[in-house]
Amino acid sequence: MAEDLFIPNTTSKGDLYASLLPQIEALVKSESNQIANLANIAAALKSAFDFLWVGFYLVEENELILGPFQGPVACTRIAFGKGVCGTAWKEAKTILVPDVEAFPGHIACSSASRSEIVVPVVHNGSVTMVLDVDSEKLAAFDSIDRHYLENLTQEIIGKYCL
Ligand code: SME
Repeated sequence: MAEDLFIPNTTSKGDLYASLLPQIEALVKSESNQIANLANIAAALKSAFDFLWVGFYLVEENELILGPFQGPVACTRIAFGKGVCGTAWKEAKTILVPDVEAFPGHIACSSASRSEIVVPVVHNGSVTMVLDVDSEKLAAFDSIDRHYLENLTQEIIGKYCL
């Protein structure tokens, strides 16, 4: 397995995701350790995009616990239904937040975060973790991010990282 990522020089984030996802799949498919794979996925996303923070919160008992991530230090525990992550867990659906200040109950782990997308990983009808991505820019995420990040969680994380 090659450990260097090829990051195309493009301004199209769709093209960037389309190039990155097969590389992420190649990176994780021969490794069975969940933490190792989630760590590499966070690193791959952080190196391809100018995200402030990208990482995982894993469902353990009745809480989300901080998992592998890249970016500034973050809150370690989030309750069911709290913040954007806890809401994505409760509703079992992707939540796009164009302006974190306008999301009631948003948990500000970093004061630099302005917008956010949280994508749950659903396995056998239950959320097992969430992928959380934060940006320093307002409205940084849209349907393109949703499409590719849902593809990542369903097709790659669902297959190789549970
Ligand atoms: N903003 C998140 C908390 C996690 S950090 O952004 C890394 C939330 O409201 O759930």
